[in-house]
Amino acid sequence: MRAVVKGIGHSVPSGVLTNKDLESMVSTTDEWIIQRTGIHERRVATAEETASTFAIESSQRALASAGLTGADIDMVIVATVTGDRIFPATACLVQDAIGAKHAGAFDVGAACAGFIYACSVATAMLESGQCKRALVVGVDVLTKTLDYTDRSTCILFGDGGGAVVLEAQEGTDRGVLKSLLLSDGAGAKHIGMDLGGSLHPVCKPHEGVTPYLYMAGAEVYRFAVNAMGDACVKLLELAGMTSSDIDLFVPHQANLRIIDSAAERLKLPDEKVFINVGKYGNTSGGSIPIGLSEAVEQGRLKPGMLVMTVGFGAGLVWGSNLIRW
Ligand SMILES: CC(C)(COP(=O)(O)OP(=O)(O)OC[C@H]1O[C@@H](n2cnc3c(N)ncnc32)[C@H](O)[C@@H]1OP(=O)(O)O)[C@@H](O)C(=O)NCCC(=O)NCCS
Repeated sequence: MRAVVKGIGHSVPSGVLTNKDLESMVSTTDEWIIQRTGIHERRVATAEETASTFAIESSQRALASAGLTGADIDMVIVATVTGDRIFPATACLVQDAIGAKHAGAFDVGAACAGFIYACSVATAMLESGQCKRALVVGVDVLTKTLDYTDRSTCILFGDGGGAVVLEAQEGTDRGVLKSLLLSDGAGAKHIGMDLGGSLHPVCKPHEGVTPYLYMAGAEVYRFAVNAMGDACVKLLELAGMTSSDIDLFVPHQANLRIIDSAAERLKLPDEKVFINVGKYGNTSGGSIPIGLSEAVEQGRLKPGMLVMTVGFGAGLVWGSNLIRW
C-alpha cells in the first residue's frame, strides 16, 4: 500500500512586504538581506487573514486538482505553529470548511518541518489502512508573531500555506516512499515563542517574557546547515538510493545559503533545486507544500519524478521525505 499524491494547491496573501519597505522600518538594507538570506520580498497576511484562510484555500485548490470534494477525505492533518487559536485545532476549521463530514482532524506542531512530519504521519495511516484519503496541509502566519523593530527576525518570515491530497493505492511505484523524522530538544531554546503556552499563559502577568518570536540566528544557521544535508544523506541510504536518483529537490525555504549548502552536499545541479525563498521568505510549515505546488505549476515536477523534500525548524526538529510523484 502506498500514499500517492492525488492533488496539490497553495495559497499566499496578496500583501507584499519588500526589503525596501523594511528599510524604512528597521536599520537594514536591501543588499544586506539579499546577501545574507536571498530574500527580496515576502507575503504578509492582513489582520483578518489567519492560518485557516490559507489552509482552507489551498485545501480547496488541492481537492479541485485531485477531482475530489471534501466528502472524499477521511483524515485532515494541518501542520502549523500559528493556528487560528491555541485550541481547537485548525484542522477542524478546515474539515468543516471543505465539508469533510466523515473525517478525523488534528494539527501537527513541528514548526518549519511540520509538513514533513504531517506527510509521514498521513502516509503511515494510509499504509496501515486506517484511512483512504488524507488531506495534508502545511501553513503558517508567522508575521503575526514578529517584532517589527527586531531586524534579526522580522526580515526572514512570510505567510502562506499549501496542501496535498494523499490517497492509499495498491500496486503502484508512486507515492511517499520513505521518511526520516529527527529531533533534538536540547536546542529548544534557540527558536520559539513563549507567551500563550501553559508555561506563560496570557491571562497571567508575564514580566520579562517576550510576546514575540525569538531566535538565536547563528545557532539555528549552524544546526540547519548540518541537519539538512545529514537528513538527506541518511534517507537516501535507507531508501537504497543516491542523490543522482533525485529529479527535484524541494528544501525548506529559510535562507538561500542554507539551501545552497544542502544542494552542494548532495552535488545537485541548479536545475534540480527548487528555490522560491526570494519572493516568499520563510513561510515555516507552508514552505515545502508551496514549493511543491509551484514546481507542479511550472512543469518542473511531473508524475513519475522522484522528489526529495527536507525541512528543519523549532524544536529542534528536522526530517525528509522521498516521494515518487
Ligand atoms: C539570521 C541570519 C540571516 C543572520 O545572518 P548572519 O550572517 O548569521 O548574520 P549575524 O547574525 O552573524 O549578524 C551579522 C551582523 O549583521 C547584523 N544584522 C542582523 N540582522 C541584520 C539586518 N536585518 N540588517 C542589517 N544587519 C543585520 C547583526 O547585528 C550583526 O552585526 P554585528 O556584527 O555588528 O553584531 C542567519 O543567521 C540565518 O539565516 N539563521 C538561520 C535562521 C533561520 O533559518 N531560522 C528559521 C528556522 S526554521
